Amino acid sequence: MPLTIGVPREVFAGEKRVATVPDVVEKLIKLGFKVAVESGAGDAANFSDEVYRTAGAEIVDGAAKLWAGSDIVFKVRGPSSEEVGLLRDGGTLVSFIWPAQNPDLLKQLATKKATVLAIDSLPRTLSRAQKMDALTSQAGVAGYRAVIEAANAFGRFFNGQITAAGKVPPAKVFVAGAGVAGLAAIGTAAGLGAIVRANDTRAEVADQVVSLGGEFVKVDYEEEGSGGGGYAKVMSEGFQQAQREMYAKQAKEVDIIITTALIPGKPAPKLITADMVKSMKPGSVIVDMAAEQGGNCELTEPGQVAVKHGVTIVGYTDLVSRLARQSSTLYSSNLFRLTEELCKTKDGIIDVNMEDEAIRGLTVIKEGSITWPPPAPKLPAAPPAAAKPAAAAPAAKKGHGHGGSSEPMPGNKLAIMFGVVAALFWFVGANAPAAFLAHFTVFVLACFVGYMVVWNVKPALHTPLMSVTNAISSIIAIGALVQIAPPLAGDLARPEEWIRWLAVGGIVLATINMFGGFAVTQRMLAMFRK
Ligand code: NAI
Repeated sequence: MPLTIGVPREVFAGEKRVATVPDVVEKLIKLGFKVAVESGAGDAANFSDEVYRTAGAEIVDGAAKLWAGSDIVFKVRGPSSEEVGLLRDGGTLVSFIWPAQNPDLLKQLATKKATVLAIDSLPRTLSRAQKMDALTSQAGVAGYRAVIEAANAFGRFFNGQITAAGKVPPAKVFVAGAGVAGLAAIGTAAGLGAIVRANDTRAEVADQVVSLGGEFVKVDYEEEGSGGGGYAKVMSEGFQQAQREMYAKQAKEVDIIITTALIPGKPAPKLITADMVKSMKPGSVIVDMAAEQGGNCELTEPGQVAVKHGVTIVGYTDLVSRLARQSSTLYSSNLFRLTEELCKTKDGIIDVNMEDEAIRGLTVIKEGSITWPPPAPKLPAAPPAAAKPAAAAPAAKKGHGHGGSSEPMPGNKLAIMFGVVAALFWFVGANAPAAFLAHFTVFVLACFVGYMVVWNVKPALHTPLMSVTNAISSIIAIGALVQIAPPLAGDLARPEEWIRWLAVGGIVLATINMFGGFAVTQRMLAMFRK
């Protein structure tokens, strides 16, 4: 029996997102599920009941009926106490949960014998999990919106302009914290033409800041700020002092500050003091994205826009909801990708496989037992030792399997192999016709060079390698065409039939390689196009 996925209306005040959009409803149905949507669930994100119905969802009136009829519930915000009461015994819930901050909610859900997947607990460092990473998709939307809010409150252009009436200087934006939200803000502000600077305690993000069009401003103090897993750690007093000095200097120079600095589970670091706000130019803007965690600026009023010392301080905690259609679309894609992982059989039944590292990380309650926190993530395998310099002779290497075995061959075995290959070469050299010998030498050398080129290339460089092999394939194709071509008048050296068929085979294989190479290169280039 296919399971029913239910999508209730969000009840949290001001929450405009919806967990599943009509496009994703269609995809879930293709995966074998039935989808029920509470009437009005998508209204605030501009998805009407009618569009859901057309996509194949059943529209259900009222939360009680929706929850009662759903085997799996997709939500954005963690459930309220009333909603937990509505969840079916033994049902499944997928939403933000923040288990560390909400232990009581976990206990409540556990009494319902529920299985709960907390989308915020996804192990973010797993590259396979990126498609399900709702924290990233939502923070990206928030970073974008923060810039739009800043532009709205700022009384000037972002980009510099030269007009008949005179020159307009570009706005200067400083972004504190270059995590997901910060990077999205940098990209958006740079796209609008502002001069963007950014700072983060993790030095590793400097390249990303630059690649998005920003300038990384370093704190003049040596200390590594990475606390592992892509998150920061609390810095030493000495560093904080140096950082405050640098921020004070930036505050005087820039027009807009966007703060996103956060260490998970800790109150937001206070980076912008009241004095720094006072030192900013009148009409400047601060958007404090960490407002919900207490704010990065001392004067922020969470949820409000406040004007202090002539500076507008935006403390909205619902930036994502202010772009509800976009954030809902991205969030529901994340949930769809998760559903694909849960339902590999495509029959509308889910399997919460606790052996899968990503699923294990997400699952905070499994059939009523609390499984949070998950065991520490497995450390990535130690990088393989550097390849040993090739010691074996070319011909000896020819016998190795695909991928090149890294096991060194014992000395006497190697000597025997050498002997056999040398004898083989002597036999061929003594008996084969001279013309064959010349071709054979070229063939052996080509095998050796090919082997060395292909097998020693790191996987990350395989795509450019495809382009090189494309060129080689074209040479093969030309050679083969010469073999197939009908002989010219008077030319007696017509190749034998089997050679011509060999040439046909060569053309077919080279063509596959060439088209494959173009296709892969095209895909790679598309990744870099906007
Ligand atoms: P993240 O963890 O990816 O980024 C935070 C960044 O701050 C990290 O790069 C970290 O290294 C940096 N950081 C930490 N301490 C610092 C310090 N003392 N100085 C400089 N940098 C420091 O988090 P993400 O997802 O980018 O979120 C950023 C903030 O935006 C969070 O506060 C989050 O709650 C908030 N947010 C707000 C939304 C809203 O509607 N207002 C929506 C989504 C996110």
